[in-house]
Amino acid sequence: MPTAHPPTSNAPNATSSDYALANEDRLGFWADQAGRLDWSEPFTEVLDWSTPPFARWFVGGRLNAAYNCVDRHVEAGQGDRVALHFVGEPAGDTRDITYAQLQAEVSRAANALTALGIEAGDRVAIYMPMIPEAVVAMLACARLGAPHTVVFGGFSADALAGRIKDCQAKLVITADGGYRRGDPSPLKPAVDTAVTSCPTVSHVLVVRRTGEPVEWTPGRDVWWHDVVAAASPHHSPEMFDSEHPLFVMYTSGTTGSPKGVLHTTGGYLVQSAYSFWAVFDHRPDDVYWCTADIGWITGHTYLVYGPLANGATQVLYEGTPDTPHKGRWWEIAAELGVTTFYTAPTAIRTCMKWGDEFPAAHDLSRVRILGSVGESINPQAYEWYREHIGGGRAPVVDTWWQTETGAHMITPLPGVRSGKPGSAMTPLPGISIDIVDDDGNSVPPGQGGYLVATEPWPAMIRTIWGDDERFVETYWSRWPGYYFAGDGARRDNDGDIWLLGRVDDVMNVSGHRLSTTEIESALVSHPSVAEAAVVGASDEVTGTAVVAFVILRDSASPSDDIVEALRTHVGQQIGPIAKPRRISIVSELPKTRSGKIMRRLLRDLAEHRTTGDASTLADSDVMAQIAADLTPSDSPT
Ligand code: PRX
Repeated sequence: MPTAHPPTSNAPNATSSDYALANEDRLGFWADQAGRLDWSEPFTEVLDWSTPPFARWFVGGRLNAAYNCVDRHVEAGQGDRVALHFVGEPAGDTRDITYAQLQAEVSRAANALTALGIEAGDRVAIYMPMIPEAVVAMLACARLGAPHTVVFGGFSADALAGRIKDCQAKLVITADGGYRRGDPSPLKPAVDTAVTSCPTVSHVLVVRRTGEPVEWTPGRDVWWHDVVAAASPHHSPEMFDSEHPLFVMYTSGTTGSPKGVLHTTGGYLVQSAYSFWAVFDHRPDDVYWCTADIGWITGHTYLVYGPLANGATQVLYEGTPDTPHKGRWWEIAAELGVTTFYTAPTAIRTCMKWGDEFPAAHDLSRVRILGSVGESINPQAYEWYREHIGGGRAPVVDTWWQTETGAHMITPLPGVRSGKPGSAMTPLPGISIDIVDDDGNSVPPGQGGYLVATEPWPAMIRTIWGDDERFVETYWSRWPGYYFAGDGARRDNDGDIWLLGRVDDVMNVSGHRLSTTEIESALVSHPSVAEAAVVGASDEVTGTAVVAFVILRDSASPSDDIVEALRTHVGQQIGPIAKPRRISIVSELPKTRSGKIMRRLLRDLAEHRTTGDASTLADSDVMAQIAADLTPSDSPT
């Protein structure tokens, strides 16, 4: 086992007594944390768990999420504090936005949205680059009680349309495009395509970012600079019930269609605010930087709601880490005096591969806390991160959580608990986690099992949008009363938790969730494909690489062109991140007698291993046949 790193942080925010307090009185602990927010109406009950798994947290309380993230800091005299240090990709394109300016912008946007007919409860889709207007758009929706659904800008028009339709969004907020790797990258065309099949959308609100020409549908399309700039900078926020829907975030599950994970206002904001404060040991003079896109849950909780609820100053960067050079992140971090940096292991491994000289060329001496999220961080990347970005001083917090958990669940607390490279350590105070066997019994240390939450927590998923049954079935049916996360894990002899990866058909590519079934559906929707099986093969940089095995229809014949066409097709159906790294054309797929594809055997092939136990195959010769079908470049070496 790698050596543990001692806790580092003087007089940390959280203390070991938080654990003791929460153990003694979990709900009392969360009631105390709710005091971090301003409520217009106090709650009368911390948790209503009378109809599990449908939880109600901070029952009867009323609040406004945007008011808590913006206005109250201005009212407390912090209006001149920088909320966002925006760094655009083009050189010199920077903007500092104070809390007072953010308040004016969010108010203007809220007034403009109201003028476009948006009311509390209406859904708004957001499809934007990483620019301040994206944060403003989210907060304007929150201010009006109109749940937003942010769709990652890398998703295709089809994927966007699917999400708009599922939540019946009335408005789409987008931009003409953003900058990516030195060039303008359009977004509006995908929205134009998507909304042709979405009758619920009455308007498309467009931020001018790149100035590239766009198609325009008069009456439907509206420029942000026309309606937002003209709107009043004053807006009185309405207060909403603690359980009022805040947002829907789509994520991949084990079936073909993504699930709309619903988060509500009070509980989500309490756990986001507490965990940001405790896990990043946040101090008023910190400069925080989370590299996640707002299209993922990390961008929601740890770029928008958690940091802003704490009145933090943060960096918002539009571009990629290597544009225009591989030291860009570290250059920005040095310039802005970043103290707290939060990213994914795949990015750390990429930077590690580029070389130590890039971070070494910049002054990173203010860095004091490093965070990791999305997958287990391998010890080598952990040590590199700590040494080369953290100067050997900064603790690494490996944070385990999910779209569904809404906020951090398992992580060390800097200054309180030490970190072991590769382990997410222990549950946060107030969070109850166990690792169980097939029968739901706790497993002893050293033994692998399934990760479950044994008690409800404030930021928990409330349901799957429009599908309570799927919510119950997916997360709560395996062991009654326990939330099943879909991850395998084990505890070591110190009681620290090591995540072992997904135990279902969900893959984790560069820290992003993709479903094997979703990619298989995309492949079989191509006219040349008869059948497809997708597996995740381990990959040094991205954690997992998507590998597909495809049976063509008789009308199509194997060629490099068809492989490329299929990759492009998946890109169009879902988005470039879902494109298989490799597609092998085969004549058979390994199936059980009941017709279930044995992906395990295909994974063995994809990872160049001798295939494991194939005794349950309907046709025992099939693996030999597949091996014979593989071209020399993808056959086992
Ligand atoms: O498998 C776990 C992995 O990412 C999944 C959640 O993915 P998503 O909902 O997209 O959220 C990612 C950002 C929170 C989990 O089921 N995962 C996330 N963080 C870690 C992790 N696996 C190991 N260690 C982590 N720190």
